[in-house]
Amino acid sequence: MSTWTPGSWRDRPISQVPNYPDAASLQEAERQLSTFPPLVFAGEARDLKSQLAAVAKGDAFLLQGGDCAESFAEHGADHIRDFFRVFLQMAVVLTHGSSKPVVKVGRVAGQFAKPRSSDTETVNGVELPSYRGDIINAIEFNESARLPDPDRMLHAYRQSAATLNLLRAFASGGYADLTRIHEWTVGFLKDSNWYPRYEELARKIDDAIEFMAALGLTPENTPALRQTRFFTSHEALLLGYEEALTRRDSITNDWYATSGHMLWIGDRTRQPDAAHVEYFSGIHNPIGIKCGPSLQDDDLLRLLDRLNPKDEAGRITLIGRFGADKVQEHLPRLIETVQRAGRTVVWCSDPMHGNTIKASTGFKTRPFDKVLSEVKGFFDVHREMGTYAGGVHIEMTGDDVTECVGGVSAVTEASLSDRYHTYCDPRLNASQALELAFLVAEEVHAQKPVRVLRSAE
Ligand code: PEP
Ligand code: CO
Repeated sequence: MSTWTPGSWRDRPISQVPNYPDAASLQEAERQLSTFPPLVFAGEARDLKSQLAAVAKGDAFLLQGGDCAESFAEHGADHIRDFFRVFLQMAVVLTHGSSKPVVKVGRVAGQFAKPRSSDTETVNGVELPSYRGDIINAIEFNESARLPDPDRMLHAYRQSAATLNLLRAFASGGYADLTRIHEWTVGFLKDSNWYPRYEELARKIDDAIEFMAALGLTPENTPALRQTRFFTSHEALLLGYEEALTRRDSITNDWYATSGHMLWIGDRTRQPDAAHVEYFSGIHNPIGIKCGPSLQDDDLLRLLDRLNPKDEAGRITLIGRFGADKVQEHLPRLIETVQRAGRTVVWCSDPMHGNTIKASTGFKTRPFDKVLSEVKGFFDVHREMGTYAGGVHIEMTGDDVTECVGGVSAVTEASLSDRYHTYCDPRLNASQALELAFLVAEEVHAQKPVRVLRSAE
């Protein structure tokens, strides 16, 4: 008999929780949230799950990306539009290069809570609680800013709703129309080395669209040319917020998180018996599990047993984030473990979180060549093992930031300070994101059909 409820995580050990000073106002904020409308519907989460099931079979490719942390200050239409444009450009590069449908999942409209390596931060001898994301406290370094404030959850909910509203309009209201492919290029990208390559591809797509129009297939009568499906995801770290937005689906009677279509468990909160895994075990959304070098084979099996006992395809995406120098060491053993147990997963690579370093100037950065090298390592390992490399998960923005060093736009350690805007980890800028997309498209295209090995074999 299952004893799961949306709140059963409260009886388990938990890590990465903020220390709210006032329990009554926390309860009141959670109560209010629980009366608010869902942000997404169960049926949409099921659609995403079936698209991910196609990825698991090798018939589609997953593109997941967005800010490391969304912020209240950066919540403008331009920021959302520029993200969406670059994301669409990446998706079109991938679709064209790989000849596979691309499943589009943003780290957006809910990506606010951040796990931290330390509970406190010390600056010039002053120790304060760490910044845990705008849904919890503020980034400014002073005592009142860093105090967790439950009303921030309500603000995050409303911001997510507004962001999602605009993204839904972009995806279905004509902005994603393939005949507008040239308009997706953000201004500064026109100076990038990738612009001519992208324009060449866009011209090929123009030709294809003209050809289809001659056959009678136009954006007006063919929805696939005029709109796209776009899904949202975030790390479900702040469980009080997630619990309040967990609702029963009226069709299946199953529980779904309605804060986003797909949620993932972070590398720091994936202990099989702890609170986060308990919460995830009862919701029916597709879920991601971040897999870092410390993930042991037997723990991975316990997680799969706990989170996907029926081995439903599309339910689990394993997001490896090992570091360029460690992917060859750890990914093969995890693949072997999953194959031996006859389990179905989507294999996805996060080439960001294992490649973070501190630049000599003090900025947290990621060398772009390490990012590319982890992605290449991910494809190499899958090629060697005969399994399907199904997706990439990246931190990116449509803005012209200088946060990751390298790439053809050549951000250097010295130029990091020019436009370093992230609220948490360094993101790929638009030019770096497109460069990555061209590389990934070639790798996906070069993949052979998948060999799905079952335990019985
Ligand atoms: C993240 O995705 O922003 C993150 C914190 O990742 P991880 O849990 O893999 O460190
Ligand atoms: Co991050």
